[in-house]
This record gives sequence, C-alpha cells and structure tokens, in this order.
Amino acid sequence: MIIALVNSKGGVGKSTLAGNLVGWLQAQGHRVLLADCDTQQSSSEWIAEALPSATIVRLANADQVLDELPQLAKEADYVVCDGPGSQTETSRALLMWADLAIIPCKASMFEARALAKNTAFVRQAQAIRNGLPEAIAVLTMVGKDYRLTKDMTEAAASLELALAETPVTLRQAYADAPGQSTFVWKMGFAAKDAAVEIDALFRELLPEACNDKVIKMRKGRGRARAKG
Ligand SMILES: Nc1ncnc2c1ncn2[C@@H]1O[C@H](COP(=O)(O)OP(=O)(O)O)[C@@H](O)[C@H]1O
Ligand SMILES: [Mg+2]
Repeated sequence: MIIALVNSKGGVGKSTLAGNLVGWLQAQGHRVLLADCDTQQSSSEWIAEALPSATIVRLANADQVLDELPQLAKEADYVVCDGPGSQTETSRALLMWADLAIIPCKASMFEARALAKNTAFVRQAQAIRNGLPEAIAVLTMVGKDYRLTKDMTEAAASLELALAETPVTLRQAYADAPGQSTFVWKMGFAAKDAAVEIDALFRELLPEACNDKVIKMRKGRGRARAKG
C-alpha cells in the first residue's frame, strides 16, 4: 500500500506525520519503507536516526516518483511518501500512484485555499484513476481556538473531502521528537497525550494496519495514565 502525505503548502505537518507513521507501522510489525520526496529531507534524516532498521529512499522529483514508486511498493507492506512543500509536480505525481492520500492541514484561516487547491489535485487524479487515491484531510497543530477548527471542518465539508475525526494538536513533544531521534510514544510520561493521540489517529486512518495485541497493551497503559 502506498500512502502519500501531501499538501503543496509547507509547514503543515507532512514530515511530522510521515515520520510518526513510519515508526507506528513498523511497531505494528509491518515492513515499511519511507520515500522522502522533499528536498529538505527532514523525515529521512529523522527516521535514519530514530529507526535505523527502516528502509529509506529519496525521490527527488516527479519523474523519480512516477518511475520508481511501483517497484518500491513491491518491497514493503507500506510505502509512506513524505511529499514536498513547493514542488507541486512531485505532489501530483504521488497522487498518480498512492492508494491513500493524507492531507495534513493546519487549522488556520490561511489554509483553506491550500486545502481547496490540493483537493482539486486529488480530484484530477481520482478522475484519471477511477476513484483512487482515497483521500482524507487531517487537522494539524490544532490549538485551543475552537472557531478556526470549525472553519476548517466546514471548508473540508464544502469540498466534500473526508476529515479525520482525530486532530493532531499543537504539542511540544511532536516538535521535540525528531531532534531527539525518537517518537512521541517513546518519550515517556510528558509526551503521553501526544502518544495516545497519534495512535488514535493512525488507527482511525489505517484500521487494517493495527496489530491488536500491541495496541491493547499500549492503549491500556495509555488510558490508565490518561485517567490518573
Ligand atoms: N502537532 C504539532 N505540534 C507542534 N509542532 C508541530 C506539530 N506538527 C508539526 N510541528 C512542527 O512544525 C514544523 C513544520 O512541520 P513539518 O512536519 O516539518 O511540516 P511540513 O513537512 O508540512 O513542511 C516543524 O518544526 C514541526 O516540528
Ligand atoms: Mg516536510
């Protein structure tokens, strides 16, 4: 399965989600490959340190994406593609092969236009590919401002774009994890809310990827702590 994190806007949380997704899928026992399609290479540098056993491939442009992605998909259960911020052509190439497009989107007034543009790209791909990729937006860096979250929920609804129920809230742990070459679920008590949240998000997005045994153990501990 090819999963692409796309939004031609930078700084919306693509690399943060891509890196966490690679770590989470590997923790569920899957063979996972990170295809870093951003020249900034933030996710590949993070994963190389945090998860030395993971396979990482860098795809520098749209041609490499179009030519190499199908072969990479044969080498892993999941290929997680971290999309670029500005190279629109590469983002659109990802949509030509992805089974699932996750569109991280900041809950901010300025993001609605970017969401509309990216949704248009998705619709074009879906028209060519008979409905693929499946697409879902994820609200990221959600603060306490409920109103903006509501605006984005309405924006997604008007675009008829699915929106994940679980948002990613603004938490220092997400920003700290890459610098510490780790993941939020390995950062202990201080990052427990982020760990519970990201697990809930990925279970929502990829229910078939869950390894029940691991989840029950981990969620059990998380819930007990969250209550206490
Ligand atoms: N939920 C979050 N809470 C706090 N900081 C975040 C969160 N998600 C991302 N960040 C930070 O915001 C910045 C941009 O995120 P990043 O994942 O690099 O976006 P993109 O890949 O879309 O450009 C990074 O410094 C990252 O650490
Ligand atoms: Mg990035």
